[in-house]
Amino acid sequence: MDNIHPIFDRIVSRSEKEQLLNQKAKVFWLTGLSGSGKSTIGEKVERLLFNEGYLVQIIDGDNIRSGICNNLGFSLDDRAENIRRIAEVSKLFVNCGIVCINSFVSPTKEIRQKAQQIIGEDDFYEVYISTSLAECESRDVKGLYAKARSGEIKNFTGIDSPYEIPHNPSLEIDTENYSVEESSLQLYTFIKDKIT
Ligand code: ADX
Repeated sequence: MDNIHPIFDRIVSRSEKEQLLNQKAKVFWLTGLSGSGKSTIGEKVERLLFNEGYLVQIIDGDNIRSGICNNLGFSLDDRAENIRRIAEVSKLFVNCGIVCINSFVSPTKEIRQKAQQIIGEDDFYEVYISTSLAECESRDVKGLYAKARSGEIKNFTGIDSPYEIPHNPSLEIDTENYSVEESSLQLYTFIKDKIT
């Protein structure tokens, strides 16, 4: 940190930006298996909130991995670095007064704890999309489970790479037993309460 002189105290404050936007900035961190519905629900809720005048940013695994994290793979070390960068990016958004809906597999407790630590406990809500592996695999929207089973893709979460279930998430949504609309409504209601 030698020769680095941050100017955090001189830029317009987060609370002034939150007042401008008439919202409280938070990060809603959706974790779950690939194909569990994280992005689908996140996108629906972003649209609902936007239509009501809230400024929300979706930060999504596949998008981020095609840009700022395009040099990372799926080893546990690379996933940890992926999540660290996302958490830092989310913090920038939060300091700008913007609500973030993040969808990342974020497979281990350690990785998620690190994200929470970077973002700050008061601004971080863990949302577990608890759709089972069997259901995600039967959906196989991107055809990745078939490739993981045949060995074409290595280190695939749930197949040959671990997913640790969150034990005390702020919210749990099981998209297996609820429709996309019902699941989105659960997330929408939860978020609305925290940002107003
Ligand atoms: S994380 O583990 O680092 O949080 P992230 O959410 O960014 O993962 O990316 C997951 C997405 O990458 C999945 O939805 C899937 O489309 C794709 N993907 C490609 N290879 C893998 C893999 N080996 N494990 C999990 N997801 C993969």
